Amino acid sequence: MKIPLVDLRKQHDLLREDLNNLFNDVLDKNNFVLGEYVNNFENDFKNYLNSKYCVGLNSGTAALELGLRALGLGEGDKIATVTNTFIATASSIVNVDADPVFVDSNKNDALINMEQLKELLEKEDIKAVIPVHLYGNVCDMNKLLKLKQDYGFFLIEDCAQAHGAEFEEKKVGTFGDIGSFSFFPAKILGGIGDAGCVITDKEEISEKLYAYRNAGRVKNEKYKHEFIASNHRLMPLQAGVLSLKLKYLDKWIDERRNIAKFYKKELSLNNLNQDNSVYYMYVVLDENRDEIMRKMNEKNIQCGVHYPIPLHLQPAFDFLEHKEHDFVNSEFLCKNVLCIPIYQGMTEEEMKYVVESFKAVVSR
Ligand SMILES: Cc1ncc(COP(=O)(O)O)c(C=O)c1O
Repeated sequence: MKIPLVDLRKQHDLLREDLNNLFNDVLDKNNFVLGEYVNNFENDFKNYLNSKYCVGLNSGTAALELGLRALGLGEGDKIATVTNTFIATASSIVNVDADPVFVDSNKNDALINMEQLKELLEKEDIKAVIPVHLYGNVCDMNKLLKLKQDYGFFLIEDCAQAHGAEFEEKKVGTFGDIGSFSFFPAKILGGIGDAGCVITDKEEISEKLYAYRNAGRVKNEKYKHEFIASNHRLMPLQAGVLSLKLKYLDKWIDERRNIAKFYKKELSLNNLNQDNSVYYMYVVLDENRDEIMRKMNEKNIQCGVHYPIPLHLQPAFDFLEHKEHDFVNSEFLCKNVLCIPIYQGMTEEEMKYVVESFKAVVSR
């Protein structure tokens, strides 16, 4: 049996007829830029999250960058974020000419370390904070909102890995000034290509985002441009796919939680996911993870390492002059995390094969 880390064919087989109909309808409607499908998805997603505005974009990276711009952040502004995340969380800060300031994560849940963040806020004038709900785990939003109240900064939730996750029965993304989402295909809610969005409750921010994604156009005017901007529009086809999949999101999260429950019961391995995680990744910690991964690969089971190098040690961030041991928990995580297959549509047979193989591999 061959098991990939994520198998998207399962969800596309389930939706194949609807996807084919959608493709035909997009061709029939003969409109390939913004329009009805994009408006509908934006409405569907904001209603699902209980947010006021949703602006569809062409990637999660664009969501972070344009989100920062729409908040007026740029040159000279210090923006704090974690170092154990995908590079887009921090490269977006550099791409708007602002200055990233890294904070460590917790060893037990891989989320932003609140004590270190508080120390940083005491010392420096931090204009914005980007916490990441990594692996589908959820940051403590009460603590973040309290810090926001005490120190006054913009809060941008990076929800690329946590669609549908909740903190105290409120969806992530709706706590901060903005929430950014990626719909990269392998995400919990993913397109059939790149896509993303920003959500916000502030009309003024949403208006800026509509302009920033669309050549800086003034609303309802084709050739009047208020800002220098680029093209980051969400495609109608992607929007249609996302609306279709959104109907299944809660069910798919339940499926992920059931797989995780099985893994937790069967595997006596240190697991990083919180109980309320939406399990974008099922993450185990083991000091021999490279060897485990190699042996699992030999058994045709693909595992992943998210992420092997923390951002402060990436060549791209050399200019910040960090060194090893600057963020010890993140470095520990990067050396020890291992993601094992979890996806919607995983069969019992596949789950059992993963567990049996794991048991055989770790008993050495
Ligand atoms: C935490 C996080 N932020 C941002 C992004 C960027 O999203 P995209 O790949 O859609 O640009 C990703 C995607 O991998 C991510 O995992």
